[in-house]
Amino acid sequence: MAARLRPDAILLLATGHWTAGLLRGAVATGLFSHIARGNATVAQLAAAVAGDAGGIRVTLNALTALGLLRKEGESYRLRPLAETYLVEDSPSYLGDLITAGCGSAYHFRVFEHYEHVIAQGRALDLDVWVDDKEYAASLATGLFGINRPIAEKVCDDLGWKGEHDEAWGLLDLGRSAGAFGLTALLRLTRAKLTLLDHPHLTAVARRFGERLGVAGRLQERPGDCRREPLGGPYDAVFMSQLLHTLSETEQQQLLGACRTALRPGGHLVVVEFLPDEGRRGNMGALLFEAMVYGFTGRTFHTPLSLRRLLEANGFLVHHLKTEGPGGYAIAQA
Ligand SMILES: C[S@@+](CC[C@H](N)C(=O)[O-])C[C@H]1O[C@@H](n2cnc3c(N)ncnc32)[C@H](O)[C@@H]1O
Repeated sequence: MAARLRPDAILLLATGHWTAGLLRGAVATGLFSHIARGNATVAQLAAAVAGDAGGIRVTLNALTALGLLRKEGESYRLRPLAETYLVEDSPSYLGDLITAGCGSAYHFRVFEHYEHVIAQGRALDLDVWVDDKEYAASLATGLFGINRPIAEKVCDDLGWKGEHDEAWGLLDLGRSAGAFGLTALLRLTRAKLTLLDHPHLTAVARRFGERLGVAGRLQERPGDCRREPLGGPYDAVFMSQLLHTLSETEQQQLLGACRTALRPGGHLVVVEFLPDEGRRGNMGALLFEAMVYGFTGRTFHTPLSLRRLLEANGFLVHHLKTEGPGGYAIAQA
């Protein structure tokens, strides 16, 4: 029995940190961006990054085997996936998310001894969003690009297609770089957006606001959403990947505060990772949950438990969508 089953799938899982490390290293040294600028050979890349030719060669060969590069003689070329997501000038660049997020030293720390999580729960005794301000700012920057397409869909579902000129008030709670609120401002040309997050992230959202030409319509409310009054009244509140950082009691308190801060009929948008009901099939969400549990000791809602939570707090859920590891609920106050 043992000899008939090949171990390849197990070995692929067991070497996941090798591929993560390679990818992180290649992004952090800008290898993909240097190839995009025409440095195609090992010698050219070694000169461009002032690096070790041997290290660069084995990295490029492994990335070729992983399907991110292709080789033409002694030259390496980007495959479309790498060109789209791993080159700094690309609008879909994921480099910050990889270096500050998935491939960061904190993530390696959580997974390096996952037996600690299995034995005793949460592995990190710090809140990276608060305790490492520089890291938080890079991760916030990295999250912007990945959230923009979701934010566009949310705006479509809210019926905000084309341009609207109502002078609406919006709140983006735990907004990091503010992808949801800022995307809405592009469609709602007279709306104003209040941004609430820890004060050290203020500059990140402002930079994106300036880039999108909406900085004049931003208001900051720096602070902790568990204590800071939310202000209002608002026509819409966005809350993306915030709920799972809070305890059950804090979730209920925050939803109560959101209901009070919204005008009657105003919309609450909750974006979260959403595992399937039986927690069997959504690999992305379940891996995220294992990661987040190692960081915070908290787990995710499923679509059903999110709906129940919103309804129990007086909201009427009118959209509940899942795609990939995540999804969103849109509910009316
Ligand atoms: C996982 S990130 C999500 C950021 C962004 N909304 C997104 O979807 O990409 C969580 C964000 O919530 C913020 N946050 C976490 N707890 C908070 C709290 N108690 N008060 C205010 N902001 C908080 C963090 O600083 C961080 O920007």
